Amino acid sequence: MKKEFIFSVSTNAFQIEGARSLGGRTDSIWDEFTKRNFYIPALGKAEREINSIEIAADFYHKYKTDCRIMDKLGLKGFVYNMDWTRIFPKDENYINPEGIKFYIDLFEELNKYGIKPIPILFHWDTPLWAEIRGGFENPEIIQWFKNYVECCFKYLGKYTDIWFVNDENSSFAQSGYITGDFPPGKKDKTAFVKVLHNLNMSAAITMEEFKKAKDKGLLSKESILGIDHDWSPPVPYTDSKEDIEACEKYNEWWKDLYLDPNLKGEYPKVFLEFIKDNKIDVTFSKEDLQYLKNNKLDFIGWNYYRPIYVTANDFEYDETKFISPPSKTHLKNVNFVQPIEKKYTKWKWPVDNTKLVEGAKRLSKDYGKNIPIMIIENGFGDFDDKSKDLILDWDRIEYLKDHIQETLRAKEEGVNMIGYSLWTYCDIFSPSGGYRKDYGLVSVDFNSPIRERKPKASFAWYKKIIENEGKELEYSQSEIISDLTGILKDWDIFYK
Ligand code: BG6
Repeated sequence: MKKEFIFSVSTNAFQIEGARSLGGRTDSIWDEFTKRNFYIPALGKAEREINSIEIAADFYHKYKTDCRIMDKLGLKGFVYNMDWTRIFPKDENYINPEGIKFYIDLFEELNKYGIKPIPILFHWDTPLWAEIRGGFENPEIIQWFKNYVECCFKYLGKYTDIWFVNDENSSFAQSGYITGDFPPGKKDKTAFVKVLHNLNMSAAITMEEFKKAKDKGLLSKESILGIDHDWSPPVPYTDSKEDIEACEKYNEWWKDLYLDPNLKGEYPKVFLEFIKDNKIDVTFSKEDLQYLKNNKLDFIGWNYYRPIYVTANDFEYDETKFISPPSKTHLKNVNFVQPIEKKYTKWKWPVDNTKLVEGAKRLSKDYGKNIPIMIIENGFGDFDDKSKDLILDWDRIEYLKDHIQETLRAKEEGVNMIGYSLWTYCDIFSPSGGYRKDYGLVSVDFNSPIRERKPKASFAWYKKIIENEGKELEYSQSEIISDLTGILKDWDIFYK
């Protein structure tokens, strides 16, 4: 892997790709879930209340246009969370030639422009055929996943040297199996424990295959394989000893549980206690635990959107203090609050970069001083005003600027920060806001038959950041407006 810091963007197959029934593909659990059951909270304009992922941004058909746009942006990396179902649409053995070809074509096209594809192999979307056979609750999935990753390393290994196994096991396992908000929509603690273990075993088998692929020369020797996790660093609500302790307890679950198995090859005590306290009838064999130890991953992808405000107190909802009702967690004396004096997005996500450096240092301290860390998701969900000629997303630029600044500061202060990848390249289907929660540097008109692309002010700004390698983050609005106007002049049919 080359040493230069990578400026990149990240995105995910089921949020942009579309073509859900094309190219020999079948459904995943996200297709099934969004067809059957998706609720978008009321906000903004009715015509954008679309919840089908059938076409999304139509990246499947428009990837060449998008690569041209990425080249214009000057990107160095493109994190792409791939679709297992497109490659294995029927079962664990049949490789869909059109599916793998799509990814070969995409990766070649990216390489043509000097952009490194950075694949994430799994982002919550189990193929439906696998789900019907028990999905991640069934340990057989580890072998099914092995076939998939083996195929990816074989056909895609030559295009890149940075890989990730999973995006946010925490979101998938907790929202899919405890709260039931995400597919497969279960509320079953036993299932949660099994799923998490099988995810960890899948990561370990991926590492085993990764080593084999290196030995066979399918991957370069320097290639690295990581785990991507969305730890929101805790901020104690007050300086009290109790609130500070609550933060440490929070970390045991929300950090250690989702990183230790992959990076240290062990489960934290908090997980074993959870199993015991809930009388969950699951044990892990010595062989499995040894296997995790033998196949630890190389590095951390960190999704930093926000910190979380934590307290030991069980507060009543007081509208003069909090913007939303305090929420209890399953851990004793660990509760979340949203203090009124903090800053939030329209979706009530804190806007606060103050924990990025401290959090990065904590990850280095806990998982090895030199462990590479890459920011894989960091972005600002907003309801952009797309009614004028220029889409001026100043709040997004401010958010990104403040977070890139802290990412680079962490690097200066000794963290082995290898790159920054923002969320996201273009407007997407968002799990919490459908097509109304915009994240992209590039706007997508979801009502146009061609899903027309258009750069926003943040596109012009990020282009500058990539050019000057983050040395000059400040900007003047007039300069960005003039850059954007210039970009739009050349925005001919090949960019739309
Ligand atoms: C991350 C997910 O946790 O958050 C993405 O990996 C998601 O898939 C992003 O889009 C932002 O969340 P949301 O719900 O605002 O789209």
